[in-house]
Amino acid sequence: MCGIVGYIGQKDSTEVLLKGLEKLEYRGYDSAGIATLNTDGMHVYKVKGRIAALRDKVDPAVTGEIGIGHTRWATHGEPSVENAHPHQSNNARFTLVHNGVIENFYEVRDQYLNGVALKSETDTEIIVQLIEVFFEETQDVLEAFRKAMLALKGSYAIALIDQENPDVIYVSKNKSPLLVGLGDGFNLVASDAMATLRETDRYLEIEDKEIVLVRKTHVEIQKFDGEEVVRAPFVAEIDAADTEKGTYPHFMLKEIDEQPFVIRKIIQEYQDENDAIKLDADIRKAMKKVDRIYIIAAGTSYHAGLVGKQFLEKLANIPVEVHIASEFSYNMPLLSEKPLFIFISQSGETADSRSVLVKIKELGHTALTVTNVPGSTLSREADHTLHLHAGPEIAVASTKAYTAQIAVLAILAVDTAKAKGIALDFDPLQELGIVASAMESLTDQKEEFEAIAKDMFATTPNAFYIGRGMDYFVVQEASLKLKEISYIQAEGFAGGELKHGTIALIEDGTPVIAISTQENVNYSIRGNVQEVEARGAKACVISLKGLDQDTDSFVLPHVHELLTPLVSVIPMQLLAYYAALHRDCDVDKPRNLAKSVTVE
Ligand code: F6R
Repeated sequence: MCGIVGYIGQKDSTEVLLKGLEKLEYRGYDSAGIATLNTDGMHVYKVKGRIAALRDKVDPAVTGEIGIGHTRWATHGEPSVENAHPHQSNNARFTLVHNGVIENFYEVRDQYLNGVALKSETDTEIIVQLIEVFFEETQDVLEAFRKAMLALKGSYAIALIDQENPDVIYVSKNKSPLLVGLGDGFNLVASDAMATLRETDRYLEIEDKEIVLVRKTHVEIQKFDGEEVVRAPFVAEIDAADTEKGTYPHFMLKEIDEQPFVIRKIIQEYQDENDAIKLDADIRKAMKKVDRIYIIAAGTSYHAGLVGKQFLEKLANIPVEVHIASEFSYNMPLLSEKPLFIFISQSGETADSRSVLVKIKELGHTALTVTNVPGSTLSREADHTLHLHAGPEIAVASTKAYTAQIAVLAILAVDTAKAKGIALDFDPLQELGIVASAMESLTDQKEEFEAIAKDMFATTPNAFYIGRGMDYFVVQEASLKLKEISYIQAEGFAGGELKHGTIALIEDGTPVIAISTQENVNYSIRGNVQEVEARGAKACVISLKGLDQDTDSFVLPHVHELLTPLVSVIPMQLLAYYAALHRDCDVDKPRNLAKSVTVE
């Protein structure tokens, strides 16, 4: 995880770095630092905590036209000033920021850094010390940088500045994301274009195992063997305003509210002039010939995959397995003869998913990435991409990406069914239009969910969510949302499974939230509610119009039975949001988390 940013140009780099880091805080926020270089030398500021604390620490009188910055999600070593980046070599000539994990940390230290005193517990410090050691040998900074990169194993995005040369930032990457931003008389380095959109919308992609020399007026890319690489820049199609909260108190609330618009945008993007589904013909061809689909994802995207499986199996008649990315790599199932892998990832950067992608590509299989970031690693390295069109999702807790993923998977399933000649009386584009209006009516009733959240979650240490069928997938997502932002111990269970053990945990007042949107299990889930109530639980039932009963806490507007997760999840997101708010939690930046999980 972690975010890095760099600037070289004609103005003071400090503000560009701080603003950039503020936009990258979603990648980690336990400590931060910047280094700027001017004629007085290198100025390094580091704090344990957020960018706001770093801003307070930086001396505004110190300026420098070259600088690098970092916001951290700790992997090696606790969050502390010593472990915060930038790290410096012992002679203080080299200063470096790093995102990633160096896997051969101990080998490098033992082989090359015998006798070198280390000031931190990080894997990053060994990189900068290694560069100093190699510089002693070669007296050539670029050569020392290259030798260090060749010695490293693992993931890294690195930016280095040399106190003796204010004209260049040395950059390299392997597995971790990194872009070079191109300006007029200045250039930038960033983990994500969002960090530096205020400065430029033109970016150069950097590939693994390349070295980039970023100067004020030009950028030089070379492979590790020195061969020059010429690459055209691309324009980042993100509206800078989409990365701001506007009048909202939190990004999460803004993103919850954006969901109806995202669904309408998806309809627009996936509809042709005859109101039929518009989809890349190559994807259609690939989907048509598979005998089994393997969905690979993590967290909320995994939960979207569980719903997507239902669409693909029920509508397109293709068997689907959904796998947690971090488990799949070393626990690979027997694959079918003609498999297709679907990677679902908001960020497109999740390292666990990427390691599966690399593995299955080596085996010669086809990959389709469903992502919100088309230029991301998972998108670039897969054969095909389906774009979510959800706009930047900044709150750490995913909301609009989840519903966008489900909507796009529904469209994909119907398109595949049609391509296979399966007749359906389900028009996803029309049904999604109904979903968008239903979502809007739910986001307009926030006070109802705020009241339920206060009643159910104000002081409880734990909570249970139950559902059956489609609702079981949604309660898993509901409990993840509550856990991650309110820190309430929460679990989502299949209603029928409670009596096989979990019901032992129900005590007087234990909150149990039940979802009932599926006709075939409406009766059974209500039976489960009675079972927990009989044991003292405080139950809250959220049901679909038509299946509701007088005692239900909230009735959802009616939508097609297959698409109910898109509406039933909205109250779940809002309940989590208000629970976190009532418990004074940091909604957008929950403890210990980062949005883009770029370490395995
Ligand atoms: C939870 C959340 C995470 C992500 C997971 C995968 O709210 O956001 O569980 O869903 O880290 O991230 P992506 O979708 O970027 O691969």
